[in-house]
Amino acid sequence: MKNYRVLLIGSGGREHALAWKLAQSRRLDKLWIAPGNPGTATVGENVPVTATDFEGLKAVVLTQQINLVVVGPEEPLVNGLVDWFAADPALAHIPLIGPCRRGAQLEGSKDFAKQFMQRHHIPTARHQTVTRDTLADGDAFLDTLPAPYVLKADGLAAGKGVLIVASRDEAKRQLRRILQGLFGAAGDKVVIEEFLQGIEVSVFALTDGEHYKLLPEAKDYKRIGNHDTGPNTGGMGAVSPVSFVTPDFREKVERQIIRPTIRGLQQEGIDYRGFLFFGLMNVAGHPYVIEYNVRMGDPETEAVMPRLSTDLLDLFDGVAHRTLHEKSCAIIPDTAITVVCVSGGYPEAYAKNYPIDILPDMPDSLLFHAGTAIREGTLVTAGGRVLALTALAPDIAVAREKAYAALTGIRFQDSYCRTDIGLDIAPAPAAEPHHAMSVPPEE
Ligand code: AMP
Ligand code: GLY
Repeated sequence: MKNYRVLLIGSGGREHALAWKLAQSRRLDKLWIAPGNPGTATVGENVPVTATDFEGLKAVVLTQQINLVVVGPEEPLVNGLVDWFAADPALAHIPLIGPCRRGAQLEGSKDFAKQFMQRHHIPTARHQTVTRDTLADGDAFLDTLPAPYVLKADGLAAGKGVLIVASRDEAKRQLRRILQGLFGAAGDKVVIEEFLQGIEVSVFALTDGEHYKLLPEAKDYKRIGNHDTGPNTGGMGAVSPVSFVTPDFREKVERQIIRPTIRGLQQEGIDYRGFLFFGLMNVAGHPYVIEYNVRMGDPETEAVMPRLSTDLLDLFDGVAHRTLHEKSCAIIPDTAITVVCVSGGYPEAYAKNYPIDILPDMPDSLLFHAGTAIREGTLVTAGGRVLALTALAPDIAVAREKAYAALTGIRFQDSYCRTDIGLDIAPAPAAEPHHAMSVPPEE
């Protein structure tokens, strides 16, 4: 059986959680992380190359004889890293976990994603895409919608490109601002959407382009304040499983969304190998796609990876060889609660370089680094989201207690976390193990 020399690309909490999981693999020879963070340095070797420095990544792959590349964030995928490897004779034989540029358009262009969903009859909010030349169509579409109004910049906008506005006049004003450059070139096209009322859930699949494995679902807490108040952030916490994802809901998600997506990619000749992240809205028991992402979520990964009892690298081996259907994917039924500690002031301006104190024996929890750095031998804050702490327990209330007890062992100046992660989620019914399915042939 082949062992792997793995290069993981990225530097956040998601990558620390992936690195932590990969480091446990019996199929791992050695793990490098580019550029990684102080947390990933405890489970592998960091190399000082950024995620979008293709030449730098190539140099690491060749010198370290890497034979599998795992891409954490979306940006290198949207920039075409996978195609770039395929076009280089020195790299073409190396499998990557992550889609090609066209596949990455599912995240890189909201207009592409919407048209894809329409072509493949995948449930999503009604929409209209508008440019400066078709502004009048945008206004006319807004006139057909009830409040509130959802406006999305088409391209990648670092999680900031979505506005939800209360009045139609305001929507028309903001539509013009986005087209005039509020979010830069990402807003050259704007997707106007019908507002969907419901609860969100993040569903993750790993696919080899033909078969897929469903990973544990998670709920992300996006707002800075307790009870979903204040501005949006990159994510303040996560819980997995999510109680409303019943076997019936999961079956609908697989039948109406996941399988048509994978089949649609196949039909369009897109060789998609990697993670598919479905941002869903549960509208009265029916799933709708809010967005696709072509990577794992952050902080969802920090809650999802600890619930996976399967060897992740063995699953990646299945992706690389298109034999994912031969692998089993086992999930721990416990509930995972992840709480993110952020720098005071985040998501607006915040200070960096505060020393971080971590009690040496934090009981019964996992600590993932996000925005940390080592300066002169001291661990310091280096980003908005600093650390993500995960606790697992058979019962959600106990998982919460454990997570918040362990958090008292982390101290840095002006640290802040939400105290309500998981409070809105009812205890899950007895979890059933779920198994991967092959995509059936055309009906
Ligand atoms: P996105 O970047 O597409 O995930 O949008 C950011 C957030 O805006 C989502 O997580 C939702 O909370 C919200 N959102 C986006 N689209 C819709 C919609 N059509 N209806 C209601 N809320 C939405
Ligand atoms: N937590 C949401 C995301 O990773 O996009």
